[in-house]
Amino acid sequence: MIPAHIYNDKELFELEKERLFSRSWLFVAHESEVPEAGDYVVRRVLEDSFIISRDEQGQVRTLFNMCLHRGMQVCRAVMGHASHFRCPYHGWSYRNDGRLVGLPFHKEAYGGEEGFKKKGQTLLPAPSLATYNGLIFISMDPDAEPLEEFLGDFKFYLDYYTKQSADGIELRGPQRWRVKANWKIGAENFAGDMYHTPQTHTSVVEIGLFREPKAEKRKDGTTYWAGNGGGTTYKLPEGGLEERLRYVGYPDEMIARMKEQWTQEQLDVVGKDGFMISAASLFPNMSFVHNWPRVEEGSDEVLPFISIRVWQPISENETEVLSWFAVDKNAPEEYKALSYTAYLMCFGSGGMFEQDDVEELGLADQHGGWPDGAATVAQQPYGHAGERAERRGTFDLR
Ligand code: FES
Ligand SMILES: [Fe+2]
Repeated sequence: MIPAHIYNDKELFELEKERLFSRSWLFVAHESEVPEAGDYVVRRVLEDSFIISRDEQGQVRTLFNMCLHRGMQVCRAVMGHASHFRCPYHGWSYRNDGRLVGLPFHKEAYGGEEGFKKKGQTLLPAPSLATYNGLIFISMDPDAEPLEEFLGDFKFYLDYYTKQSADGIELRGPQRWRVKANWKIGAENFAGDMYHTPQTHTSVVEIGLFREPKAEKRKDGTTYWAGNGGGTTYKLPEGGLEERLRYVGYPDEMIARMKEQWTQEQLDVVGKDGFMISAASLFPNMSFVHNWPRVEEGSDEVLPFISIRVWQPISENETEVLSWFAVDKNAPEEYKALSYTAYLMCFGSGGMFEQDDVEELGLADQHGGWPDGAATVAQQPYGHAGERAERRGTFDLR
C-alpha cells in the first residue's frame, strides 16, 4: 500500500522536482520534429523553457530559452524555422546554435568588447543531452549517467515503438492539453494498469472498435518492468511471427523491415511467445501506446498506431499532457494516413480512450486533498509473465 496523499502533496511535489526531475533523463522532442537546419521547437520542462533547434551544421541543440541579459524568454513561438532568435526586451540576438551575435548599442552602452565581452557568450545549453532512436533527452544533471544505461533493458521494448525500420519514426503533433491530476497517475496508468481497460473503456469495446468483442479478452497479456521503464502487452492468437504481425494490421513490407531491424530475441516475443506491446512508461513521465483498432466501420481490418506522450507536471494536481502520433518513416503513405486516423480515434484530445482516461484521472485526484491515512493499492493484479517479457528491475527512486 502507498499513501494516497502522494498524488496531491505540495511538499512532495517540490521534492520530486528536486530529486527526481533534476536527475533523470527527460524526453523533450524527436529529431524528426527538427529535420532541417534552422528548425526549432520550444518545450517546457517544469518551470524552464527550452529551445530545441537544429543549427546550421545540422547539430541538435537544447538551449535554455532565457536571455543572458535579463533572463527574458528569447523565443516566444512554439515551433518554427529561424537562423537567429532575438530577445524582445532589449534586442540581444543569438544564432540558432546559441551564440550571442547581436547586442544593440554595444559600444555606447557597454564600451564595446572591452567593457562587456560579447564574443564567446552563448545561451545556456541543457546540462546533458543525448538521443536514442532519434528521441532527444535532456538532463539537468551535468554528471547524469549515460542515457543508454538509464534506459537499460527498456531499450528492448522501446525499439518496438521507435525502430520498426532502419530510419526509425517520424512524429506529428504534439496535441497539448491540461488535466487536473497529478502527473504520476497518468504515468502509472500507462506503465501497467491493464486492470482498468475492461471497466473504464467498456464503451469503446461495445461500439465495436476492436476485433475482440469480449472485454475479457482485452486484458489478456502480461506486464513487465525493464530498466527504468515498464509496460503492458496483449496476448496474440496462435500463429507465427508474420501471421501475428499481420493480425495487428502491419502490411508485409513493414513486417519485412521489422525482421531486418529487430534482434531474434525481440522477434521471438511476438513470434514465439505471442505478446504484442501495448502501453508503457519510461521513468519518470514519458509514455507510449500501441494499439490496433478498426478504422473502417463494418470492416474486420484493424490498423496499428503508435503514440508518445509526456506528463508534464504543472503543480501537484495539474499536468500538461503532450501527445504525439508516431509512425515508421518508411511506412507506405496510405498506411501513415490510416494509422493517424486510428490514433485520433483512440488518443489525443478527441480520442475515445483519452476521454475515458481523463475522466478517471481527473476524478481520482478531485477529493479536495486525500484524507489522512488514505492509501491506494499499488500492485497491478495481472502478471502472467511470458518467457521473455518477465519483470526485471524496478524504478530507481534514489
Ligand atoms: S533581457 Fe533579453 S535583451 Fe535584455
Ligand atoms: Fe486507459
